[in-house]
Amino acid sequence: MNQPHGGALVNRVNLEYDHSSILAEVEIDRFALADLELIAIGAYSPITGFLGEDDYYSVINKMRLSSGYVWSIPITLPVAEYVASSLKVGEKIKLVYEGEIYGVIELQEKYFPDKRLEAERVYGTTDEKHPGVKKLWDRPDVYLAGPITLVRRPEKSEFVDFYLDPIETRSVFAAKGWNTVVGFQTRNPVHRAHEYIQKSALEIVDGLFLNPLVGETKIDDIPAHIRMESYQVLLKEYYPRERVLLTVFPAAMRYAGPREAVFHAIVRKNYGCTHFIVGRDHAGVGNYYGTYDAQLIFGNFSTEELGITPLFFEHSFYCKKCGNMASTKTCPHAPEDHLVLSGTKVRQMLRDGEAPPPEFSRPEVAEVLIRGMEVPASKQ
Ligand code: ADX
Repeated sequence: MNQPHGGALVNRVNLEYDHSSILAEVEIDRFALADLELIAIGAYSPITGFLGEDDYYSVINKMRLSSGYVWSIPITLPVAEYVASSLKVGEKIKLVYEGEIYGVIELQEKYFPDKRLEAERVYGTTDEKHPGVKKLWDRPDVYLAGPITLVRRPEKSEFVDFYLDPIETRSVFAAKGWNTVVGFQTRNPVHRAHEYIQKSALEIVDGLFLNPLVGETKIDDIPAHIRMESYQVLLKEYYPRERVLLTVFPAAMRYAGPREAVFHAIVRKNYGCTHFIVGRDHAGVGNYYGTYDAQLIFGNFSTEELGITPLFFEHSFYCKKCGNMASTKTCPHAPEDHLVLSGTKVRQMLRDGEAPPPEFSRPEVAEVLIRGMEVPASKQ
C-alpha cells in the first residue's frame, strides 16, 4: 500500500470534542468547510490545519510546504478584516457554517495574503474572468491559520454511499488485494475519451479509483448528481465491477490547471493510489493553460518526493479511419478523421435533446445527460 504524503495519515476528527467553553466563532464558507473536512480526514496529509504565512509563501513560490514536502495549492481560511481584528492569536475559535459548528481552529496566525502573487503563481493569471481567480478575489482578505479539529461531519444529502475517507479507501484497496491503483479525477460527465484513458491505465494496474469532484464548481459545469448518475450507468454496463471503486471527492474545484493536477495527484496518493491519470488540459479552463502544461509541471519533482506515479495521456478521441479510440500519440490520421466535440457543443446538443454520437458518448450516458439537462416545467 502506498504511504500517505508525509508518511502518516492525518486524523483531526473528534466528534466528542467539548467546545462549550469556547466563545469565539467565525462563519466560514462552503469552500472552507470542504477543506476543513478534507484536512481532518487526512486527504490533505501532511497538512493539519489552514496554512500559516511561511507555508503560504513557500507553497505559492516553491510548490512546497516549509517542511519541504511537495504541495502546490495553498489551503487557506479567509475571513473579513473586521472579523479577524476581533480574534486573538492563541485562542481557540469555533468554525461555523450555516449556524452549525463544524470545527475548531487553534489560531496561530492571522495575516494579509498577497492575492496578486497568489493569482499569478497558482493560477498563472490575475484575470478576473478566470473562475479560480475570481473566487480568490471574492473571498475575504485576511487568512486565519492554525491546526484544526473537525467536530461534526458535514451532512451528506446526496451520494451518501459514495463518501469514503482515505482510511476507508485504503482498507477497500487492501481487501481487494490491489497493490497498484490508478486514481482518476473528473469534474465532467464521462465520455468515451475518459473511458479510453481509464481503461488504458487499468491495463497496467490492479484497480481503478474513480473519484469525481463534487464540491463547488463553476455555474456552467454539469451538476454533480448528473455526473454521478452518468458514472453509475457506465460502470454497470461497461466496467469490470471487481476492479473499480467509485467514491466522491468533496473538494471545491480551483481550475488551477497544472498546479491543481499536482494537488489532485497528492490527494489521491493519500487515498491510497499508486498512480494518477493526467490527460489533456487537466483542471484547465478556457485557454489559460497549454494542453500539456499539467503534465510538464510534474518534471519539477522526483518520483520519490511525489510518491505517486503520474500516467500521462495525450488528447484522445474516436478515429473513423482507425475504427477505434486513439490519441495523437497512436493515430496517424488527419484531424478530419477524428471525432472531436467541444464541451460547449456537447452541452448545446444535450440541451436540444440530441444525443452526441455513440463514438463520443455511450448511449446510456447520453440518455442520463439529456434527462439531466431538461429544465423542470416549473422553471421554464
Ligand atoms: S478536470 O478538470 O477534472 O481535469 P475532466 O473531467 O474533463 O476535467 O478531465 C478528467 C481527466 O481526463 C483529466 O486528467 C483530463 O486531462 C483527462 N481528459 C479529459 N478529456 C480528455 C481527452 N479527450 N483526452 C485525454 N485526456 C482527457
